[in-house]
Amino acid sequence: MTKAIETDRLETALGSGRGGALSADGVGIRFDSFQAVRDISLDIAAGEFLCLLGPSGCGKSTLLSAMAGFVTVSEGGLTVDGAAITGPDPELGMVFQSSEALFDWMTVRQNVAFGPRMRGASRAEQTKLADEYLGLVGLRHCADRFPGQLSGGMRQRVQIARVLANEPGVVLMDEPFGALDAQTRQVMQEETDRIWRASGCTVVFVTHDIDEAILLADRIAVMTAGPAASVKSVYPVDLPRPRDEADPATAELRRKLRQDIGEEVRKTLRHQGFDPEESDR
Ligand SMILES: Nc1ncnc2c1ncn2[C@@H]1O[C@H](COP(=O)(O)OP(=O)(O)OP(=O)(O)O)[C@@H](O)[C@H]1O
Ligand SMILES: [Mg+2]
Repeated sequence: MTKAIETDRLETALGSGRGGALSADGVGIRFDSFQAVRDISLDIAAGEFLCLLGPSGCGKSTLLSAMAGFVTVSEGGLTVDGAAITGPDPELGMVFQSSEALFDWMTVRQNVAFGPRMRGASRAEQTKLADEYLGLVGLRHCADRFPGQLSGGMRQRVQIARVLANEPGVVLMDEPFGALDAQTRQVMQEETDRIWRASGCTVVFVTHDIDEAILLADRIAVMTAGPAASVKSVYPVDLPRPRDEADPATAELRRKLRQDIGEEVRKTLRHQGFDPEESDR
């Protein structure tokens, strides 16, 4: 189904050690009077892979959107390589959960060439870059098709190629594989790991899936329940790569993450007027 990414070409295309260092310092985000997140401080090293876990609605997408420069912070600050993030920037690439983010009226090649076109690359250079990055995600043969003619997994790979074509130092991924079937999801996780290792990008990856986080992350940050969500805990994942889901060393980490998230999910339910303990009786 999926052709493996050609890692050697990826290294040539992207170079190594290109990641940007991302820093959140006391970040709060409000929508009018509603405080979505507060007091978030996180230092993400250049080239690090950080996964963000947390109960639904706690503010993961909001925080990621702020890191991408789409949402303005109300308190504190966000920086990339020491420079304040004040708006969208080609250095900060965002992969959305939904592959609806692709332009349906453009071919796959035109979608991937969009960033280079916007920054004024020549037509020949746009095509060259688009084909190169489509090759990296194993989709060059689909360049002349339209997104509507591709499967969900293929559309997500086009989105990833489109982000990489901007050659960002930081890639922000918001539950990018949430809508995929288990098999495709597994292939996409392996490809993400390979792209990240070869490119040297910094990645912030939002997921609901504890096992996905353990498979991919250098560190896992767990958010508290919202409103006014903050960071509850941060765990390093000191396991050799590529990770093995069946490795017994993952069991203890999985248990801690389940416990932390479980506590926060129960808080969310209580906040919504449903007491899970009460209903157990
Ligand atoms: N533009 C907005 N205006 C007002 N409130 C918003 C806006 N965007 C998000 N929110 C609120 O902020 C909170 C966090 O939302 P967010 O989408 O970031 O959560 P999430 O953790 O990504 O949830 P999920 O896991 O379901 O994707 C929610 O209460 C949401 O209703
Ligand atoms: Mg979200």
